[in-house]
Amino acid sequence: MSTSLKGKWVLITGASSGFGAAAARAFGSQGARVILGARRVNRLVTVAAEAAKAGSPESIHHPLDVSSTSSVEAFMAWVRTHTRTLDVLINNAGGALGLDPVSTATDADWEGMMQTNVLGLLRVTRAALPLLTDTPGSLILNIGSIAGRVAYEGGAAYCAAKAGELQITRALRLELCGTGVRVGTLDPGLAETEFSKVRFKGDEARAAKVYEGVTPLAAEDVAEAMVWMANRPAHVTIDEMVIKCTDQAAIHKVNRQPR
Ligand SMILES: NC(=O)c1ccc[n+]([C@@H]2O[C@H](COP(=O)([O-])OP(=O)(O)OC[C@H]3O[C@@H](n4cnc5c(N)ncnc54)[C@H](OP(=O)(O)O)[C@@H]3O)[C@@H](O)[C@H]2O)c1
Repeated sequence: MSTSLKGKWVLITGASSGFGAAAARAFGSQGARVILGARRVNRLVTVAAEAAKAGSPESIHHPLDVSSTSSVEAFMAWVRTHTRTLDVLINNAGGALGLDPVSTATDADWEGMMQTNVLGLLRVTRAALPLLTDTPGSLILNIGSIAGRVAYEGGAAYCAAKAGELQITRALRLELCGTGVRVGTLDPGLAETEFSKVRFKGDEARAAKVYEGVTPLAAEDVAEAMVWMANRPAHVTIDEMVIKCTDQAAIHKVNRQPR
């Protein structure tokens, strides 16, 4: 039997686009109250309105840069002015920067990926934990990637970052055993969002090539899986879920049709 998400507090990082924005709408449509964070506040305004339109009784937003401890702390202090408890934390903020081999990749890209995907996740989780441990059956849902499970050329730092996310998820589950807090990871494959545009630093043509001839996952497909994971009864944890489009059998095995 599923649990109702009606009225539950769901905090989503990286809610200004892609999976995070779709999650805001999807949880909103379940009647959940959504708390949205990202750096682009103008985008958050739109997403919060979309979540409200979808059915969220309360959709609020605040600037958040997960790569800064002071920003994360200010964000959580603001969250505490709205609620003392959280039911779901979705650590989604992150992404890839560049696709260069180790021989030519830059410190800035490596540091950026570690800051968001690894340290950002740790910072937000540490700050949110006191609000989660008071809510048995609450869920920390981390967004990983198939890149955290299988390496690819040009992906050394991103794969390392997402492998880090996977191990943080596993360690947290051990640390929180007995508290009633559930911990899971949702690891998507190829999905069409702003991910590739960010990775290729605004090169839209290069980003479009990633999805050429393929029917990739849509952000909504991933958001639906998040809702399903969050909606399991309190005694059920989905530890790890991998979600891929049917055209992607493995990281290097993608069926591309000429269009
Ligand atoms: N798309 C894929 O193929 C794919 C596959 C597997 C996993 N993933 C993972 O899924 C997650 C969401 O990615 P997406 O595909 O939805 O890409 P996206 O459309 O680029 O969304 C990324 C989100 O992360 C936020 N973000 C980035 N840096 C941040 C920071 N320092 N502080 C706060 N928020 C930050 C962005 O917001 P602002 O820029 O406004 O801050 C944006 O809302 C990422 O962790 C990504 O690694 C993506």
